[in-house]
Amino acid sequence: MITVPVKTSAPYDVHIGSGILQKAGELIRPVLRGRAALITDSTVDSLYGDIVRQSLADSGFDAVSYVFPAGEEHKNLSEYAGILSFLAENAVTRGDFLIALGGGVSGDMTGFAAATYLRGIPFVQIPTTFLAAADASVGGKTAVDLAAGKNLVGAFHQPSLVICDTDTFSTLTPAAFADGMTETIKHGLICDRAFFDFLASGDRRGEINEIVRKDVEIKSSFVAADEFDRGRRQMLNFGHTIGHAVEVNSEFSVSHGRAVAIGMCAAAKAAHAFGLCGEDLSVPIREALSRYGIDSACPFSAASLTEAALRDKKRFGETINIIYLKTIGEAAVHPLPVRQLEAFLRAGCES
Ligand SMILES: NC(=O)c1ccc[n+]([C@@H]2O[C@H](COP(=O)([O-])OP(=O)(O)OC[C@H]3O[C@@H](n4cnc5c(N)ncnc54)[C@H](O)[C@@H]3O)[C@@H](O)[C@H]2O)c1
Ligand SMILES: [Zn+2]
Repeated sequence: MITVPVKTSAPYDVHIGSGILQKAGELIRPVLRGRAALITDSTVDSLYGDIVRQSLADSGFDAVSYVFPAGEEHKNLSEYAGILSFLAENAVTRGDFLIALGGGVSGDMTGFAAATYLRGIPFVQIPTTFLAAADASVGGKTAVDLAAGKNLVGAFHQPSLVICDTDTFSTLTPAAFADGMTETIKHGLICDRAFFDFLASGDRRGEINEIVRKDVEIKSSFVAADEFDRGRRQMLNFGHTIGHAVEVNSEFSVSHGRAVAIGMCAAAKAAHAFGLCGEDLSVPIREALSRYGIDSACPFSAASLTEAALRDKKRFGETINIIYLKTIGEAAVHPLPVRQLEAFLRAGCES
C-alpha cells in the first residue's frame, strides 16, 4: 500500500493499493470514531457495498447505508436533501462520520452533505473510479448541480481520509477509464514533464498504483498551495474552459475526459498560433491521448463553442482566463480579452 499525505489546513492521508477495500474498517479505525453512514450509488453498492460493510463490521463499526440511483442527474438538491433526512432519521451526530463510496458523484454529494449536516461532520472518501481517485476525491471541493449548471452549490470540506483500491477500476467501462487517464495526462502536462513522458512512451495501464500515486501527489501539491482556489489551483483547469464548452454543446453526450482532451489540444494549438508558446504542443498531446484510445478531434465550430464558453462561471468581466502550456510540464494563465475568444477557438479547433 502507498500512502500520500495531503498538507491542507487539516492534513489527511490518501492510501492507494490493490485489494485495500477489504481493509477499509482497519484503515479508518486510527482516524475516526463513532458510527459510519455509508453513502453510495446503486451500481457501486451492488459491486462493492458489502465488502465495505463487512470490513466496517469486522473493525467494530456500527454502520447505516444510503443508496441513491447512479448517474450525474442524481447529483442534485433533492438527492442531497434525501441524504440529510436519512442522517437525521438515523440520529447521526457530530461524533459520527460519512463514507463516500463510488465515483465523483458520490464523493461530491456526500462531501457536501458532510460539509453542511450539523454544520459539518467528518467524512472518508473511497473512490471507485479512476477519475475520482486521480482528481475528485482529493482537494475538498464538494458540490451538487442545479438545473442551471454543474457544481453551482457547494463548499470546501476536506476528507479525513481517502482509501483508493485500484482493483475497483477493473469493472469500469473503457470510457470511464479514459476520463481518469485524461486528467492524469493533464497532470503531467501542467507540471511534470517526466510523468508526461512516462505516460506517452508506452501503455502504462499495468502500473496503475504508481500512476494514482503521482496523480494524488500532483493534485495535492496544487491544493496545499491554494486550498480555496484563488490562484495556483486554476492550473488544474487546463483544457477545462474549452472542454466545458464542448460538454455543454454536446448536451453532455461527449464524456468529460474526451471534452477535456479536446480542450487541452485546442488550447495548446491556439497558444502557439497566438505566440504564447514556441511550438505546437497539440501534436505530442494528441499522440499521448491516442495511445489510450482518447479521440481529441473537435467536432464543433468556434462560433458555437464561443457562445457556450461565455456562459461559463469562470469568466471574469472582459477577459476569460485561459490556461495554456509554455512548454510540456509548465502551465501558465493568459487573460484573453473576450473579443478575441472566437479567433482563439478558431485557431485551436478549426485550422
Ligand atoms: N470535487 C472535485 O474536485 C471534482 C473533480 C473532478 C470531477 N468531479 C465530479 O466528479 C463527477 C464525475 O466523476 P465520475 O466519472 O467518477 O462519476 P460517477 O460517480 O457518476 O461514476 C461514473 C459511473 O460509473 C459507475 N461506477 C463507479 N465506480 C464504478 C466501478 N468501480 N465499476 C463500475 N462502475 C462504477 C457509477 O455508478 C456511475 O454510473 C462529476 O460530477 C464531476 O463534477 C469533482
Ligand atoms: Zn476534469
